[in-house]
Amino acid sequence: MELESLTPENLGKAVSITLRPEQEAFVAPVVQSIAEAYVNPTAWLRLVVDGDEVLAFIMGNFDPDHEIEAFRAGIWRLNVAASAQGRGVGRFAVRALEEEARARGVKRISVLWERGEHGPEGFYLKLGFVPTGEELFGEVVSYKDLHNQGKVSA
Ligand SMILES: CC(C)(COP(=O)(O)OP(=O)(O)OC[C@H]1O[C@@H](n2cnc3c(N)ncnc32)[C@H](O)[C@@H]1OP(=O)(O)O)[C@@H](O)C(=O)NCCC(=O)NCCS
Repeated sequence: MELESLTPENLGKAVSITLRPEQEAFVAPVVQSIAEAYVNPTAWLRLVVDGDEVLAFIMGNFDPDHEIEAFRAGIWRLNVAASAQGRGVGRFAVRALEEEARARGVKRISVLWERGEHGPEGFYLKLGFVPTGEELFGEVVSYKDLHNQGKVSA
């Protein structure tokens, strides 16, 4: 698995990433996220690829001055292709975003999710995100501290 920036060559495969139908309510389609990134210069986008195959799309946001704390540094979108789920691709993508955050001097990252049977809550809890108990726009707000990362086996 490797991390790749979006290019004219891989764009078609990126926007073709398909989730399981029951997961679609939990994250925007990749094409919408790319459009949002076009008008949000603080967005950070990467693909997880295996050779020519595009396995996942991740979008973070690094906007230290954002008025809402939960939007200053964290995961905005994560779409792992249905055919690639369950083999560590999501974890790889989140770790890549954590590395990017650390390189920017960020001490903790956030993610917001909607609760639901087919949602990503169990995934993010497993990766070490801790809900604050508050909700924003109907979604659970959670953070992961990035210090001592070497000692945590998430
Ligand atoms: C949630 C999602 C990102 C997980 O990606 P993935 O590549 O299948 O996850 P991984 O294989 O990296 O899983 C890492 C660990 O989390 C666990 N896990 C994954 N999804 C889980 C879920 N929904 N509930 C509980 N645990 C989960 C895995 O079992 C694995 O645990 P292990 O280390 O004990 O084996 C993926 O299912 C997805 O894209 N879902 C639809 C879109 C979505 O909800 N995105 C998040 C929006 S914020």
